[in-house]
Amino acid sequence: MASRPRFAWINGRVVPYGDAAVPIDDRGLQFGESLYEVIPVTVGEPRLLGEHVARMEQGAAELGLGPGVPKLPEWKAILTELVAREGARDALFYAQVTGGAAPREFAPAGTVARTFFAYLSPFVFPGDAEVVRGIRAVSLPDIRWGRRDLKTTMLLAAVLAKKHAQSRGASEAILVGSNGEVYEGASSNVCMVEGRTLLTPAQTTNLLPGTMRGLVGEVAREAGLDVRGEPFGVERLRRADEVLVTSTSQLVMPVVSLDEANVGDGKVGPIGRDLARRLRQRFGLEA
Ligand code: PDD
Repeated sequence: MASRPRFAWINGRVVPYGDAAVPIDDRGLQFGESLYEVIPVTVGEPRLLGEHVARMEQGAAELGLGPGVPKLPEWKAILTELVAREGARDALFYAQVTGGAAPREFAPAGTVARTFFAYLSPFVFPGDAEVVRGIRAVSLPDIRWGRRDLKTTMLLAAVLAKKHAQSRGASEAILVGSNGEVYEGASSNVCMVEGRTLLTPAQTTNLLPGTMRGLVGEVAREAGLDVRGEPFGVERLRRADEVLVTSTSQLVMPVVSLDEANVGDGKVGPIGRDLARRLRQRFGLEA
């Protein structure tokens, strides 16, 4: 659960949250020419900051938004300022770079000054009680564009998928390619447990290189699991011992039902619960 921030950082200064605005011809708004990151902050510390900044830098280099992305020391300064102003211990830091405001042309002739804004929402990360409840998911055809490895704000397909999931009493949609391959969740990565193996789809342009997925892999190796990235289909996912989703806000969350059918025995499995606990410990959320 996130609460409303009181401040925002926009183009180099802090303003009251309600005063932060972009012009109506912002290229992020009109063309989806924009990238974002959501970064976890726990006990006042940003986590995986280097990974998040690197992901935005790589995406920005591909989309021509590079000049709009602050360097790592500036991210740290913005975070320190917003953490102090919001008085937040645990929070989600949202940052977005857009192509900036200019008369509406698909490919503008001159250079346009990019827009960068950020804010910090106090947030309660899921604890063991939430993990033990798990979540329900549905599978859906992936109708997104071809560069799903870039964290763009072209999120309409994800919004529709989440609404569909909600209409079926689920909170996540697992997006599947036309060949039946599992890619990722609408706002998370997917992993599955088979025995002592943690499997996640191999990294391609079909899915986001999730920061939490990387950390979960590391923590799983520490726990003695064999961690592999390889393609798998939705039918294999249905037969998994455990299905997990990973993301900044969910950390690692067990999926207890998929398309209204139980995953395993319908109860949260030991591996997902253990990995979630290890992640909370890493982030100082639990002793
Ligand atoms: N979503 N895949 C998609 C499509 C996502 O939107 C996200 C994150 C992830 C997980 O990435 P990470 O582990 O780096 O958070 C995978 C964010 C949190 C969001 O849109 O709110």
